[in-house]
Amino acid sequence: MSSDLLARDRNVIWHPFTQALTAPEPIVASSANGVEITDADGNVILDMISSWWVNLHGHAHPAIADAIAQQARTMEQVIFATCTHEPAVALAEGVVGLLPAKLTRMFYSDNGSTAVEVALKIALQYFRNRGETKRTRFVAMDGAYHGDTVGAMSAGVSCGIFDVWGEMLFTVDSMPNAPTWDGDEDVAAKEEKALAALDAYLDAHGDEVVAAIVEPLVQGAGGMRMCRPAFLKAWVEKLQAAGALIVFDEVMTGFGRLGDLFACLKADVEPDFVCLSKGITGGFMAMAATVTTEEIYAAFLSEDTSKAFLHGHSYTANPLGCAAGVASLKLLLTPECGRQRAFIESFHRAALKEIAKLPGVKKPRVMGTIAAFNLDPGGAERGLGAAVGLKLKEFFKGENMLIRPLGNVVYLLPPYCVTFDHLSRAWDSIERGVKAVSA
Ligand SMILES: Cc1ncc(COP(=O)(O)O)c(C=O)c1O
Repeated sequence: MSSDLLARDRNVIWHPFTQALTAPEPIVASSANGVEITDADGNVILDMISSWWVNLHGHAHPAIADAIAQQARTMEQVIFATCTHEPAVALAEGVVGLLPAKLTRMFYSDNGSTAVEVALKIALQYFRNRGETKRTRFVAMDGAYHGDTVGAMSAGVSCGIFDVWGEMLFTVDSMPNAPTWDGDEDVAAKEEKALAALDAYLDAHGDEVVAAIVEPLVQGAGGMRMCRPAFLKAWVEKLQAAGALIVFDEVMTGFGRLGDLFACLKADVEPDFVCLSKGITGGFMAMAATVTTEEIYAAFLSEDTSKAFLHGHSYTANPLGCAAGVASLKLLLTPECGRQRAFIESFHRAALKEIAKLPGVKKPRVMGTIAAFNLDPGGAERGLGAAVGLKLKEFFKGENMLIRPLGNVVYLLPPYCVTFDHLSRAWDSIERGVKAVSA
C-alpha cells in the first residue's frame, strides 16, 4: 500500500523545501495521535518537532477535532469583508486578552508569511496615511527567517536561502544579532557590539525607518539561535526611540513555545505588531493573525477608501480555523499545559547537559520547550545542505524519530503532551545519532 502511494506521489506531488532528485522517500503518514504519527506500514514515529512547529497539544486532539467538526456542520466559511462571526470574535478576544495591553486589533490571514506581509504593509501605510513620507526603510536581524512570500523573504534575506530571488526583493537593512548559549563567556561583548552597530545605523537613518521586524528571543529556521531577553529589549528600545514601529514575528515563538505564552511577555516588550500562525489553531488549520495597536488602527479610519487597508485573503478568519483556535487556547490556558511546558524545559536542560559532553557538540541552548545544539565534527560544512544534518535526519528516520536538523543544528520542539518516556527515547536517539555520525 505504501509503495503504491509513493509511486502516485512521485507522479503528481512537488514537496516543499525538498530536493526531489536526492531526497529520501517521504514517510507515508496514515494517522496521527498525540506525539505519534503512524505510517502505512504500521511504524510509530515520534513527532519531536511538532510537525514544523505547528502542533501544540498533540495530533488529533479530540477537543479541537470536535470543535472543527461542530463548526463545519454549522458554518464552514463566509466572506469576512462583509460578515463577522462568533468564532472569529471569540478567538480575537482570547488572543488579545493575553498580549500586552497596547495590542488590541487582530487582522486575520492564512499563514506565517502572510501575517508578516500584513504587518509590513500596515506599518508602511500607517506612516503614509498620516502624511509622513520620509520613512522608507525596514530593519531586520541577521539570520532571521520570516517566511517565503516576497515581503517576508525580503525581511529574511540574511538567512541566506533566498539568493535566487534577489532581484524580486526590496532592500531591508540587517542588523547584527547576539546569539548565545549555555556557558557562552562572550555574550556581553557580542551584545554590546550589536547594540553599538544599531546605534551607528540609527544615527544615520533612524528617522527613515518604518519598522523593525524580529523573531523575538529565538530565530527558528536560521538555526534555533537564542538571545537574552535584556538584549532584545535594549535593541527594541533604541528603535522605538527613533520612532520605528516594532514587529514581533511570533509565528514560531507564540502560544507557549518559550514557556511563557508569548515571547513579548518573556522579554517584557510591547511591540506594535505581533504576527501569529502555526500554533494558533493547535496545529489543525492553516490560519494566521497580525495583532496591532488602536493607534495604528485609527490611522486607517477615513472617509477616503484608499486610506483603508485594502488587503485580504479568500479564507480570512475561516470559521473552522477560528473554532480550532478557540478550542486550542482553552487547552493552552490549563494549569496542566503550563506544568507540561515547565517539565519539558527541565527535561531538556538535564538531557542537554549530558549531550554537551559528547565530542563535536557545541553551543547547547534551551529556551522553554525548545532545545538545540550545533554538531561540528571536524568543522563540517554548515547551511541547510550540511552533510552532517542530512546523515542525522536519515539516522533519526531509521529510529522512527521525526527530528529534522537545520543544517548542523539539532533541535527538539515537541508537542506539549510529550511524556517522560517520549523525551527519554528522543534524547537517547540523539545521543546514538551524534555518536554514529561523529564516528
Ligand atoms: C518565525 C517565522 N515566521 C514566519 C514563518 C512563515 O510561516 P509559514 O510557513 O506559515 O508561511 C515561519 C515558518 O517557519 C517562521 O518560523
